[in-house]
Amino acid sequence: MISDKLLQARIYEKNNESSAESRPRFHFTPRTGWMNDPNGFSYYDGAYHLFYQYYPYDTKWGPMHWGHARSEDLVHWEYLPAALAPDRSYDAEGCWSGSAVTLPDGRQLLVYTGRLVTENREEGIFQVQCLAVGDGLDYEKYEGNPVITGADLPAGASVRDFRDPKVWLDETTGCYLMAVGSRAADGSGQILLFRSRDGFSWTYVKVLEACHGQYGHMWECPDFTVFGDKGLLMVSPQDMIREGEFQNAHGNMYLAGSYDKETCTFSREEVHAIDHGYDFYATQTLIAPDGRRIMIAWMQAWENAHEHPFPQDWAGMMTVPRELTLKGNRLIQNPIREIEKLRSDKVAYHNLTLNGRIKLAGISGRCLDMTVDVKPVSPEDHYEYFEIRLAEGEVRGRYYTSVLRYEPAAGLVTFDRAVSGYAGDCLPARKLKLDEDRDGVIRFRILLDKYSAEIFVNDGEYVLSSVLETSQAARGISFISQGDCRIDIEKYDMF
Ligand code: FRU
Repeated sequence: MISDKLLQARIYEKNNESSAESRPRFHFTPRTGWMNDPNGFSYYDGAYHLFYQYYPYDTKWGPMHWGHARSEDLVHWEYLPAALAPDRSYDAEGCWSGSAVTLPDGRQLLVYTGRLVTENREEGIFQVQCLAVGDGLDYEKYEGNPVITGADLPAGASVRDFRDPKVWLDETTGCYLMAVGSRAADGSGQILLFRSRDGFSWTYVKVLEACHGQYGHMWECPDFTVFGDKGLLMVSPQDMIREGEFQNAHGNMYLAGSYDKETCTFSREEVHAIDHGYDFYATQTLIAPDGRRIMIAWMQAWENAHEHPFPQDWAGMMTVPRELTLKGNRLIQNPIREIEKLRSDKVAYHNLTLNGRIKLAGISGRCLDMTVDVKPVSPEDHYEYFEIRLAEGEVRGRYYTSVLRYEPAAGLVTFDRAVSGYAGDCLPARKLKLDEDRDGVIRFRILLDKYSAEIFVNDGEYVLSSVLETSQAARGISFISQGDCRIDIEKYDMF
């Protein structure tokens, strides 16, 4: 039975769907209204499914629904009717983030966080884990909800910060495992592990990993994926102190280490930022039918989420889905190969010697996929810096651009949108220190869309993702070098 609240949302979104022209060219946005985290990112019944934190009625966050879309190729998405609305006592404050798995009988199980408010609101709001079962279109909330509550938590774990379940099938035991964000007695984040034979009745197993006050406070949106005998845990910590790799207050990071499947023991070996740009949060992964690990994330920082110079009837974008691999304990991320289908009108330059500033014929625009290889002219003769200016132009007497710069001597990549036209921006330039000096040799692949730039460095060793609120009239691209360097460029328009 579809509740009145869900029906109302479905009618509203159908009648108020944002126009294709108002959207980015190749980044996913909500059907209408507000979107934050990806949810239930999965492959089910022959197609990819993407659900999302959704408030259809405004471009601001509100009581959360789950929006829904389906795709054959992770590039072209078809909107489906909203899947969940906050229509029960245990989720009346919102159906918060969660994930999806397929049940043995072929139905899809959605696992999400409900917010349960006590009769005396002063006493508190508790977060609980809930289920809904469906066929890829309609979902019925489970009569046994909530299935995990404060009573199931280990000593000291917060009942108020307990959210964002990620569920997967553990091939070794045939059981489902669930990683959930939690806050330990010391107030900092931890990830709790639960197990279930059938997906409906859950028991607590252990603390999978804990922050111990080192990386922010609450750890939101865990995602855990196994690569052979390695485990990759991704989390989005709140209230991070800006230092080193971590430059967002609502940060993102991965912990890579060994994973013993028998005992579900994860031993962290390295911790790094997943993305070094301004806007990246709440990752989710799936395993594609061909075995690829594919990740998607909300391309937005909470810090600036409500500041938008251009009034649109949608708010929030996802990153382009990325293929993940692990090299030792380092995460390598590249845009899914399917995105290359959108390429057209190739323009290439080879072995161009650069010193000073140039614009190149055929290289401009706001929707493109461009790879730039940079190297010194000789091993002895190093350039001081190399720069690409994106979305550059004079609009109504004001100069706009976003600056991507590489300084080989310092091994430093900087992305700066200080003059990109985002007046509400309160965030300083993003700086990324490369681990290895490659004698001034560097590769950038830039996916530029109407409202964003995703920059992949050295074939996915690092990524910087950022929203751009620059006027669409600013279409220029220029290349600048202080000292001689040589560049190769391959650029495609994206359609
Ligand atoms: C992360 C988050 C989640 C929560 C959801 C609510 O962005 O705060 O922890 O489930 O958003 O919309």
